[in-house]
Amino acid sequence: MAEKITTTLNGAQRTFTAEIETSAIELIRGQAGLTGTKLVCGSGACGACTVLVDGAPHCSCIMPAIHMEGKQITTVEAHAQSDLHPVQKAFLAHDALQCGYCTPGFINEGIAFYDNWKRNAHRKRPTRADIAHAMAGHYCRCGAYQGIYAAIADACEGKYEGPEMPTYLRSDGPAKVTGAAKYTTDIALPGQLVGVIFRSRIPHGKIKRLDLSKAQAIPGVKAILRLKTDDITHYEGEPLAALAAVDHATALAALHAIEVEYEPLPFIMDMRASMKADAVQIVPEDKKQVPSASEAPPFPGSWEGNVRKTLLSISSSDKSKAKRKIEKSLPESATHYEATFVTPTQFHTTLEPHCAVADWRENDMLTVYASTQGMYFLAKDIAERYKLKEENVEVIAEHVGGAFGAKLTLHTAIKTAIELSRAAKTPVAVIYSRAEEFSEAGYRPSAEIETTITADPDGSNAAYTMAAYGNSGYAIGSNIADISGLGYTGIAKSLVDYDVLTNFQPGAAFRAPGGPAACFALEQAIDQLAEQLKLDPIAFRRKWEEHPGYLALFDWVEKLPLWKQRGMIAGASRSSAKDGIVSGVGVAFGGWMHIYMPTVVVEVEARTSGLTVRNAVQDMGQGARSVLSKAVSDVFGIPIQDIKVEIGHSTYAIGPSSGGSRTTASIYPAAVEAAEKLQVAILKEVSQKLTLVDAKINPKGIVHAGGLLLWAESFQHITLLRADAKRGHNDGFNPMGLLPLGQDMELGQNRSYGVYVVKVEVDTLLGQTKVTEVHGAMRIGKVHVRPLAESQCQGGVIQGISHVLYEDRAICPTTGRLLTRGLEDYHLAGIGDMPEIHIDFIEEGFEMVKQKGVGLAELCTIPVAGAVANAIYNATGYRPLVAPIVPQRMLAGLKA
Ligand code: FES
Repeated sequence: MAEKITTTLNGAQRTFTAEIETSAIELIRGQAGLTGTKLVCGSGACGACTVLVDGAPHCSCIMPAIHMEGKQITTVEAHAQSDLHPVQKAFLAHDALQCGYCTPGFINEGIAFYDNWKRNAHRKRPTRADIAHAMAGHYCRCGAYQGIYAAIADACEGKYEGPEMPTYLRSDGPAKVTGAAKYTTDIALPGQLVGVIFRSRIPHGKIKRLDLSKAQAIPGVKAILRLKTDDITHYEGEPLAALAAVDHATALAALHAIEVEYEPLPFIMDMRASMKADAVQIVPEDKKQVPSASEAPPFPGSWEGNVRKTLLSISSSDKSKAKRKIEKSLPESATHYEATFVTPTQFHTTLEPHCAVADWRENDMLTVYASTQGMYFLAKDIAERYKLKEENVEVIAEHVGGAFGAKLTLHTAIKTAIELSRAAKTPVAVIYSRAEEFSEAGYRPSAEIETTITADPDGSNAAYTMAAYGNSGYAIGSNIADISGLGYTGIAKSLVDYDVLTNFQPGAAFRAPGGPAACFALEQAIDQLAEQLKLDPIAFRRKWEEHPGYLALFDWVEKLPLWKQRGMIAGASRSSAKDGIVSGVGVAFGGWMHIYMPTVVVEVEARTSGLTVRNAVQDMGQGARSVLSKAVSDVFGIPIQDIKVEIGHSTYAIGPSSGGSRTTASIYPAAVEAAEKLQVAILKEVSQKLTLVDAKINPKGIVHAGGLLLWAESFQHITLLRADAKRGHNDGFNPMGLLPLGQDMELGQNRSYGVYVVKVEVDTLLGQTKVTEVHGAMRIGKVHVRPLAESQCQGGVIQGISHVLYEDRAICPTTGRLLTRGLEDYHLAGIGDMPEIHIDFIEEGFEMVKQKGVGLAELCTIPVAGAVANAIYNATGYRPLVAPIVPQRMLAGLKA
């Protein structure tokens, strides 16, 4: 029975009605239309939905709406009613956000903390521990914790009390700290239905009967359809059918009315079991049906049972030499090390789930709002799949709440929304639940990595072989061994990848696919061999590496005080271990490709009102808006806040997909060139209109015989001028150095290299590891927007720590069903796990690249796992071969 609720919402008395089971967030977002409050976990685990109830923070997802009765409820929107709150300003100033999906929750919790601190604290500035304690109930998957610490501390110290706005570089920061930013989950079109998916409940089986009739007969169900054309289900969570209904309750009732009968078939969840010669064959007859977990098209391969061997390696070098050297190497000798490393499944856990709102209208016009990493190519893919004219399809993504590789494709949520909208003839929204995010949205594949390394006794002539067995579930394309070869140009290597099929959902590309796992294995193997040869780890690497990228990083490490002190840190901590805590320092290197899209076009226009830059790119938190506005700002010398950025629509000029670190490398050069062209056009038009003499372009404006006309002044003399520029190929374009990867991607010359030196503390009694310090150097050429580049690195570090120390899936061995179904079941690194991070950029090495800089998002996460593992070894003498390095593994390892 519906209850009447009278509450004060953002200062205004409001009356609502709600069922007893309605949650506060449903009322706030639905009836009140305040979409700044975000629903993420639905279980009070992540804090994204935090609102203030009589000034105290509460998770609105687990708070019944009826508890709003008589209370003062404050959502993030309230703090933007006049001036921004000091906490919001501090978040802008410290760039304490990326995708922004967690930000409203952090802002509300931060404001409650700020109020308490001002009232009760005896100190002026809170410590990191104070803030970590207060923010412990909040996750930021992008990893913006370093900025959050600084922002809350500064706000509490009273730094942003005045009316003035701070300077900031994240163009969409104000929209994100006020809750004004609109994500796909916030879209509510007239007549919009709720779409839901009926999924397989077993890991492998024959579908004997799938009866949709009872669901179809439920009043309010407007469309229902089968999603699967064959009758075999290959994994739990596989989409079988979908329906659209007038509201969520009706949709769920209809979902429960669907009847299914399975004939269960034997399933395999364990990779080693799947590799056995007598294993049940789960590979289909038409092997092309097996999906790919990779961003790039899969390399050719050959199947044997459930195992597919990749037949091409682009990173192997001196393959025969490497094999010969390893064959001759004596297993017991100091010059030989071999081990099998194991890395875990890592779920993307973007805070915004996979979602889409499709509106298929008359005359086959289709608008799709989607949480996507590639709107321009998504629109093309949709047109091709549904046989629509390209000009009839528009994809919109104003803001995307995190992606990390999981949203590069035309994913199931999008396809389902489109098909239901076509059937229902009205808009349909499909938004995954958190359980669906875990059961079907992809993950970083787990792997077993057989690594053997050898070198001459003096450390020269190193060679390694790597055979990586990737478990991408019911998918191929894990490519770990080959990715290991992106680094170390001077070492002989023989690399081979295998995909082992299991009855688990298909994996997906995850930030630097294959990179962290490869680095975990290779960097530990190198350090171990260095120790066996009694060589310093950097001196060992110098023996066979001459690439200037590596040499610059070696020099950087050797000068780092923490690295110089590593022997002393480990030795001193072991000899005087208090409470069983020992410390250690580790290093690891990584390499990534320079990828860009020459077809990208950026448009810049000038009007009397100012400058606008436009491109069909999406911003998932990496800061595409800021990169575009910074490029134009760099040319015109106008503050980025004064430059309007229009992105998020596929109909704008050709934009890049965001994957493989190709976004900035594609849009920044094109934006600079378009801005420069626009300056020439402005010069021409304004000179003619004002009859300027000897007019020329100057960084500040147009200089002429009569003085200087500032750019901002020049806009007053034009109505509309527009220029565009294509990204194009790099200078010194060398076709032999390029590899077409699909989606107009090109592999540019040279590679980016990075290194982390980390310090850990290991509790040898409890088995816990804490990363306390991280120092990194990234050799990526010119850095275009430094605070955002630093934020990317911080995010890459925290995701890397989370991967190597905490994250894994749990599967029921009896039923094969996934037990990890919510954020409360999944250990993610939180704000208290964030170490102090210091990043240096080595801005050289890419002089041949347009605007001399390349992408960073993949590189900055690759070396983390290896560096943490090497630091643990330095601290404890235990070599962790299996990640995540959870306490029970650590304790077992220390005992062995
Ligand atoms: Fe926190 Fe993206 S900014 S989850």
